[in-house]
This record gives sequence, structure tokens and C-alpha cells, in this order.
Amino acid sequence: MNYPLPTGVPGYLRVAKFWIVRDIGSCWPQLINNMTSKTVLVTAATGTVGKLLVRVLLEEQWNVHALVRSQDSEVSQELHALGVKVFKGDFNDLNSIRTAAQGVEGVFVNAVPTMGSTMEVTHVENVITACKDAGVNTAVYMSAYMVERRKEIPGYDPKTSVFENKATAEERIANAGFKYWTVVRPCTFMDNFFGRISAIQFPHLQKEHVLVATLKESTKIPLVDSLVIAKFCQAALSDPEQYNEKIIDLAPEALTLPEIAEKVTRNIGIEAKAECLSFEDAKNRGCFPPILGLWEAFNLLQPSDTRDQLQEYQIKLNTFDDYLQRNKQSVMAYFG
Ligand SMILES: NC(=O)c1ccc[n+]([C@@H]2O[C@H](COP(=O)([O-])OP(=O)(O)OC[C@H]3O[C@@H](n4cnc5c(N)ncnc54)[C@H](OP(=O)(O)O)[C@@H]3O)[C@@H](O)[C@H]2O)c1
Repeated sequence: MNYPLPTGVPGYLRVAKFWIVRDIGSCWPQLINNMTSKTVLVTAATGTVGKLLVRVLLEEQWNVHALVRSQDSEVSQELHALGVKVFKGDFNDLNSIRTAAQGVEGVFVNAVPTMGSTMEVTHVENVITACKDAGVNTAVYMSAYMVERRKEIPGYDPKTSVFENKATAEERIANAGFKYWTVVRPCTFMDNFFGRISAIQFPHLQKEHVLVATLKESTKIPLVDSLVIAKFCQAALSDPEQYNEKIIDLAPEALTLPEIAEKVTRNIGIEAKAECLSFEDAKNRGCFPPILGLWEAFNLLQPSDTRDQLQEYQIKLNTFDDYLQRNKQSVMAYFG
């Protein structure tokens, strides 16, 4: 390919031009591509974090490949309309991940829990294998806060602990040989109060506007806005050197149940209350025992926020108030 220089350019520059074109001419399209459009693979792209991460990456001019189980779902259609290349696949289907990983520089790995089995780890391994073979150089894995303290949780059993698979997957990511890797460990998503998970964790909130739990009044729940998780993942993909080999505990805020109820009341205008009950009373009130066990673990371990440690990253650490204001319409719609 010829790249003409303007007439009147001195001879020595013409020689320099010859060498530049000869040396980089063959990889010129790749250079331009790298400068303008890096590509990332987002797994679980239709999930809470995946959906937001895709949008944040698009704002940062990334090309996005999305791995989805159904290309016909509403969310997949939305992603397609945004310009995302949507690949039908499954964590169980290595070849489908291989196809989605072609031409990709970074990958967001987010496998969902598989209770009582190590399938979650196998899913992460499949993503690692496909991405390593495709030459992906950066991996960002979404684990969970408290993984490090899993053995302190009452009744801990490595065969059934939801944190055990994540701990193993973290190791797999760190030792896979990616040029850059980062682990983000988010705590309780703020979304948990107002969606599908709320029906399990706080079954009385939507209709009765009451948060019932075995949390003590003084016990804090560490909270994170899923948009903050997405921003950290995007930052780790965009600036992999700065984030390389970091394990980031994402718990920007921690609030008691009465504080959460007060913030819902003030921001949404629906009077919410907190009921901090004993295990037996909460069970009789209709709460799910496994979730009550989680609150009991919080009472024991007293998890705190990690706000101070997160300041170094210079990413806005949205509060629950910020989250409620930004999502006011959808939260009001949740309450009906
Ligand atoms: N919620 C919390 O408070 C919290 C806190 C810390 C960590 N986490 C971790 O966050 C993860 C969940 O992330 P999220 O909330 O963003 O997701 P999510 O909203 O729970 O959605 C799950 C996603 O995974 C996809 N998926 C499920 N099985 C799959 C499979 N076999 N192959 C490919 N994709 C599959 C789903 O696709 P479909 O659309 O096809 O169903 C969907 O995109 C879990 O690992 C959880 O442990 C959650």
C-alpha cells in the first residue's frame, strides 16, 4: 500500500517514509484497529452487571462481544440494537465461547453459582480455555466479597459453600497465564432489594414495605451499586496495567437495616420499616431459613465497608441515596 507524502518533502524523509511503511505497513490496519476499536467479550451479558458493563464499555468506544443464552431475549435484542455483536452460547459449550472470543482483547468473566456442585468452576475454566486459545490478554473476574472469610461462616463446608467455587475460580484466573488479570469482589448489590432477589431475601418488602431479617439493629449490610461494579470492571479492562493482579473488595457503603428502610422512605416516598427479629420469629414470619443463616453470618462477622481502600481508584463510589435517586422510577414501579 502506498502512503504518498506531499511534494517538496526532503529526500531523507522520503527514505524514512520508505522504512516506516515497509516496517509497519503490514500491520497498519491492526495498529489503527487497536487505536480506535478494541474488543471485549462480556459473559453473562444479559445479567445485572453484564448489561451495565456493556453500556459503560460502549461509552468508552470498545467493540463488545456478548455471550448470551438466547439471542431472542429482550435484553439480547437491546444489546444488538446498541451495536453489540451478540453470540449465542453457554458456559457448558466450549465451542460457543471460542467463537465469541475470536478477535477479543479482554474478557469479563461472570459465572453464576451452581449450588452443591463445582460446575461454576468448570464454567470459568471453559471461559479461560477459550479465551487463552483465542489470544485474549486481559481477564476480569467477578467473584464476591467475603470469599476470604468463608471459613469463618458458621456451618462452612467446602462442598456446599457458595464461596468455595469462587475462591477456586479466583485461583484459576490468577494462574491461567493471562498477561493481565483482575478480580473484583462485590458485596450485596443494591439491586437485591428491588427485583427478583428481593422476593427471596426480603419477601415482605414489596407488598408490606417491611424489611424482615435476623440482622441485629446494629449489624451493617455492605452495599454496592451495580453501576460501580461495572465501572471498576471497565477500568480494569481499559487500563489493565494499573489493575493487574489486583483483588478489589467492592463494598463502598455499609448500612444497618433501619438505615436502609429510612433511605427508601426518604428517597422513594414509600414508608419502609425494618424488623430485626430472632431466627424463630423471622422463620415464622415467612422468611427463608438459608437466607436467615446469611444474616446470622453477618451478625457474627460484622462486615464493614471498604470505602477508604477504594478511594485510590478515583471511581465515583455511589451511595445508596445515589442509587435510589438514579433508579427512582423503577424502584417506585417495583412497589407498584
Ligand atoms: N447479587 C449479589 O448481591 C451478588 C453479590 C456478590 C456476587 N454476586 C455474584 O454475581 C453473579 C451474578 O451476576 P449478575 O447479578 O450480574 O447476573 P444475574 O443478573 O444473576 O444474571 C445471570 C446471568 O448469567 C447468565 N447465565 C446463567 N447461566 C448461564 C450459562 N450456563 N451459560 C451462560 N450464561 C449463563 C444469564 O443468562 P440468561 O439471561 O440467559 O439467563 C444472565 O446473563 C453471581 O456469580 C453471584 O454470585 C452477586
